[in-house]
Amino acid sequence: MSTVALHQKYRPQTLVELVGQPYIKTALTNAVKSLQIAPAYLFTGSRGTGKTSTARILAKSLNCLNTKKPTDKPCGICQSCRSIESSNSLDVSEIDAASNNGVDDARALIERCTLAPVAGRYRIFILDECHCLTGNAFNALLKCIEEPPAHVVFILCTTELHKVLPTIVSRCQVFNFRTLSVQAIVQHLRIVADAESISIDNEALTAIARLSDGGLRDALQLLGQASLLDADITANHVMEIAGGVTETELMAILQAIATNSTFRLLQVARELVDFGKTPKLILSNLLQTYRDLLIIKSAPKEQALLTGCVSHTQLKAFANHWNFETLNLSLAELQKAENYLRYTVNAAVWLEVCLLNLMPSLLPVGATKTVNVKPGHDGKLLPTFGTYTINKVTDKSGDGKGEDSLLPAVAANTANLAQIWLSVMDKAKPNHQKLLAHAHLVKLQDDKAILEVTPAYQKKFENSKEAIAKMLQRATQSPKPLTVLIKTTNHSNNGRVRG
Ligand SMILES: Nc1ncnc2c1ncn2[C@@H]1O[C@H](COP(=O)(O)OP(=O)(O)O)[C@@H](O)[C@H]1O
Ligand SMILES: [Mg+2]
Ligand SMILES: [Zn+2]
Repeated sequence: MSTVALHQKYRPQTLVELVGQPYIKTALTNAVKSLQIAPAYLFTGSRGTGKTSTARILAKSLNCLNTKKPTDKPCGICQSCRSIESSNSLDVSEIDAASNNGVDDARALIERCTLAPVAGRYRIFILDECHCLTGNAFNALLKCIEEPPAHVVFILCTTELHKVLPTIVSRCQVFNFRTLSVQAIVQHLRIVADAESISIDNEALTAIARLSDGGLRDALQLLGQASLLDADITANHVMEIAGGVTETELMAILQAIATNSTFRLLQVARELVDFGKTPKLILSNLLQTYRDLLIIKSAPKEQALLTGCVSHTQLKAFANHWNFETLNLSLAELQKAENYLRYTVNAAVWLEVCLLNLMPSLLPVGATKTVNVKPGHDGKLLPTFGTYTINKVTDKSGDGKGEDSLLPAVAANTANLAQIWLSVMDKAKPNHQKLLAHAHLVKLQDDKAILEVTPAYQKKFENSKEAIAKMLQRATQSPKPLTVLIKTTNHSNNGRVRG
């Protein structure tokens, strides 16, 4: 293996080689061919989508010495092309605004603007991460960008368009680099893997693509990391390296749900969280797995539709445990929980609540207060929001050491209250949901409900007590009106609540 990182080795050298970004390719190709070069370009978009690469390609296209005029196919071997590639061209200055962000740097740049190009046709300034420039530096540049000398082209790149002065943006031709699709990334990774003789299966490539959030740099970096393993690379390896949730871990969760083991389920969840995997990551992986299970149920032969990291064979074995409706409900549950995670500071608790809601045993059968459950269901329905009795979390073995007894009553209670609060939020209007997410229901006894909020929110909640009381009454189907008390906390409840 070469010592050059894959993402550097496989930097696109011409517009044709650029993966994705079809509009940008066409527009820039046409601009170069028709010699309609703008004085300033602004490339924006998330990281690893090709901004810096395209800036260099454009610079080469404008200055390639192997053609008489700008070309959309720079040769890559002439003096100009090579010096741009190695960042030591006299005509092309690549300035990392992250480290040269002051007004003096801008002035120095403006001075260089007036000089004629040495070897090429244009003097090109690539301002990478240009959002890092200070306001003064931007202002100094403004005039220059507005009316640059005919031989000057500015290429500004940024991941954060909103931090660039609007006056600058309005003077540039703006190109928006899109994140790349999983499919596009997999295709590209396959080419690179084959060229580098990296033995990796398609599931693993798909896992890499999904983990990279549409950026090719991260994808290639992960591939490079994985290639250092001695084995044939699988999706499990990839998840292991990336700190994602592995197939084995997801299967442990499914297994616990399928065998109705509350204790095991919470244990696995806590282990994962303790290992540094975020509730968001765990839930989104589980969501993908349940989606795959649903696909297996409805289209058993369509392996290509699967997107998660649990393999087809494993999924097929698990799919028999649940019927279509249960899977569908579980998916809805997971999706809801994913939404709530955005608002909550108590993610680990929501994760547990959500996982408990996936348990077939926690059905509202025999629960004292249940809603939304049609009679005659097959015993596989999940509790819906509004159910607030969780049965089957008490010790059944009698010796106090049975599996379930290890789940502290407090946790069950927290889960209960959390679930009620979820159901209140669930039925609230979206703009109220945001506010409600700042409170925790800490007690619910007789007709009293105690909400805990941080001091900053006390007033707001005091003012909405009556409305909240009504919502709670509805959620709990309590016959009596409730009184709501607001308590303040000082500690920020960032961690998870444990029994
Ligand atoms: N659209 C793309 N097509 C091909 N390779 C890409 C693309 N985007 C990123 N890459 C890969 O990622 C590396 C970094 O890309 P770069 O252009 O520096 O991204 P950005 O400046 O948008 O963060 C490149 O060297 C290349 O290997
Ligand atoms: Mg860049
Ligand atoms: Zn050239």
